[in-house]
Amino acid sequence: MAFDIDMIKGVYATMGERVEKARELVGKPLTLSEKILYSHLWDGKPEKAFVRGKDYVDFAPDRIACQDATAQMALLQFMQAGKDKVAVPTTVHCDHLIQAKEGAATDLKHANETSKEVFDFLGSVSNKYGIGFWKPGAGIIHQVVLENYAFPGGMMIGTDSHTVNAGGLGMVAIGVGGADAVDVMAGMAWELKFPKLIGVKLTGKLSGWTAPKDVILKVAEILTVKGGTGAIVEYFGPGATSMSCTGKGTICNMGAEIGATTSTFGYDESMERYLRATDREDVADEANKVKEHLTADPEVYANPEQYFDQVIEINLSELMPLLNGPFTPDLATEVGTMTDKATENGWPLAVEWGLIGSCTNSSYEDLSRASSIAQQALDKKLKTKAEFGINPGSEQVRYTTERDGILEIFEKLDAKIFTNACGPCIGQWGRYEDPKNAPKNSIVHSFNRNFAKRADGNPNTHAFVASPEMTAAIAIAGRLDFNPLTDKLINEDGEEVMLDEPTGWELPPKGFEVKENGYEEPREDGSGVQVIVAEDSERLQLLEPFVPIKAEELQGMKLLIKAFGKCTTDHISMAGPWLRFRGHLDNIANNTLIGAVNAFNQKTNLVKSQLTGEYGGVPDTQREYKKKGIKTIVVGDHNYGEGSSREHAAMQPRHLGVAVVLVKSFARIHETNLKKQGMLALTFANENDYDLIQEDDTFNIVDAAEFAPDKPLTIEVVHADGSKDTIIANHSYNDAQIKWFNEGSALNLIKKQNA
Ligand code: F3S
Repeated sequence: MAFDIDMIKGVYATMGERVEKARELVGKPLTLSEKILYSHLWDGKPEKAFVRGKDYVDFAPDRIACQDATAQMALLQFMQAGKDKVAVPTTVHCDHLIQAKEGAATDLKHANETSKEVFDFLGSVSNKYGIGFWKPGAGIIHQVVLENYAFPGGMMIGTDSHTVNAGGLGMVAIGVGGADAVDVMAGMAWELKFPKLIGVKLTGKLSGWTAPKDVILKVAEILTVKGGTGAIVEYFGPGATSMSCTGKGTICNMGAEIGATTSTFGYDESMERYLRATDREDVADEANKVKEHLTADPEVYANPEQYFDQVIEINLSELMPLLNGPFTPDLATEVGTMTDKATENGWPLAVEWGLIGSCTNSSYEDLSRASSIAQQALDKKLKTKAEFGINPGSEQVRYTTERDGILEIFEKLDAKIFTNACGPCIGQWGRYEDPKNAPKNSIVHSFNRNFAKRADGNPNTHAFVASPEMTAAIAIAGRLDFNPLTDKLINEDGEEVMLDEPTGWELPPKGFEVKENGYEEPREDGSGVQVIVAEDSERLQLLEPFVPIKAEELQGMKLLIKAFGKCTTDHISMAGPWLRFRGHLDNIANNTLIGAVNAFNQKTNLVKSQLTGEYGGVPDTQREYKKKGIKTIVVGDHNYGEGSSREHAAMQPRHLGVAVVLVKSFARIHETNLKKQGMLALTFANENDYDLIQEDDTFNIVDAAEFAPDKPLTIEVVHADGSKDTIIANHSYNDAQIKWFNEGSALNLIKKQNA
């Protein structure tokens, strides 16, 4: 089941009629995003036009993809839904649980030993329920999806924020929590607020050192980490069609870093070339038959301001290579202007590592262009100053780049070729024995995220994001402020040399090749397959349904933590070493909110218990409240829960007894995850009320029993001295979501409906 051509034909067969109907209802020409959305409605043919940014709409995605870290909890949940098979084609990809340390062979063997029970669990659940299984080492989920499953005009959801990568092949592909994926696996609709639309017009053409990565680094600078929230970003214009399909994938991939629902591009020749090169001639042929539906109506791109909620224009001919970071992906610095900025900010100028790969930039084109820079280091007798690490995106890319001598070039520079897996991108990097006390340093990588500790667990690592070719150049020079367009390097003979512009191949001239791609097809009838979870397992735990939170429990709640500033899903449920507990709710709950900064003392994992007056770790303090049957509330700042789709960030507080999360604003996926787990996700109607919250506060939701759509809730905040404030809290729950709350979780509701 490399891909399901009949399913794709089915999508295309109804697309024309649905698009036409949608055009009529909307009353104007349609963007590509609207065409895909309106042709994937759960009820089939559109019946009404939806209000962007307001209406909740039920969709019917074509595919689901899960990675090993999130799949554990998703599949544990799916097992509770009482189904024989997944309702929608689904794949599981083992890529997050493999630590990068020595190099692929040793690291993969080690992962297969240390995570055996998890891989066996995922393999057997996949086999039982009709899910395609990609073994450890097969590749990174989004590269494998792009190579095998993504198709123009399709809709996909995935339990990973960077599912959006498939927009590079013209999909609407959206990262969701495991709970959303479980709904769709169980045959239910998938609900999404109809997104707003941001158009990005790309004029000019990339050249020289500038790469597709720089486009999204620029967009991130313009829109910031919040700017894409609730919106689909649709790229178009001559600059878009002049880029490769995998380059488009890079741009869509990092749409997650601006909070966008997803990003996409219209079907074009680069996509057709990629489909044919990846052995999907039939998909390309079918797509060609419905071409006009796989891109926006011509009027849209001619007058974008009339059809998008926001339009940005970038001239690729004028775009300069960028380095974004440290600690946030939207802080852009043009290559060549780094010296003063780094010095002023105390960013180490010496670069210790250059990492190339991850789902963002691990295509054949990426590796071939970066290798053209690496080759120059050999040819021009340059000694590389930083170390190199390479993560190929898939076994197909690895095998082909090895065959074509690309990996050998890096190996000659003593690069470590890590497993075809996430590795350093998700903190799975054995860089230090004791990362917490590791020294201040800078690294450059072609990944997408660069939050503190993300790569190596060291809070002092300053990670900068760049294109693969720029990463290679900076690693060779070993300096953050190296500008290959102007700067000379001194070689082993003491001569001054410059690096020439990168060159490479969009697709392998001799075609892709792979011997053992690492895919396992599930059994037709999986009823006889046993799924085993050991009682005493530290890593896997069968789930118990959550008990609904009653209105009376929303009285007398205590403040667990008032989080200050950025609070991502990494702060709420840290990755790195905790990844091993992703399938064991009680064990992983021991990391709940330990990365969040307490607004009252600016410290992490140190909060005051109102039971004892003592300060302690967040999970321990919360477990004491739980023992006493006291519900708690978490207060947060803007864009709370940005980052990843992990529903653990919602399930863990829920498991430990947090009832309410009250913030200035939410990241979309996290807000939905809280709702799915039967919690209250609320926002301050007046965000200055955040300042009213004190350390010893008690909270009463006075109108909890009247929880209803479009009706704000009133919270009485009782301070330690007995004084009170009244806060109005908004929410975005619709009727269906209120049922989730009333039943204790969305899964409880599914089970009830299946019974
Ligand atoms: Fe993996 Fe990093 Fe992508 S964790 S899926 S390579 S964002």
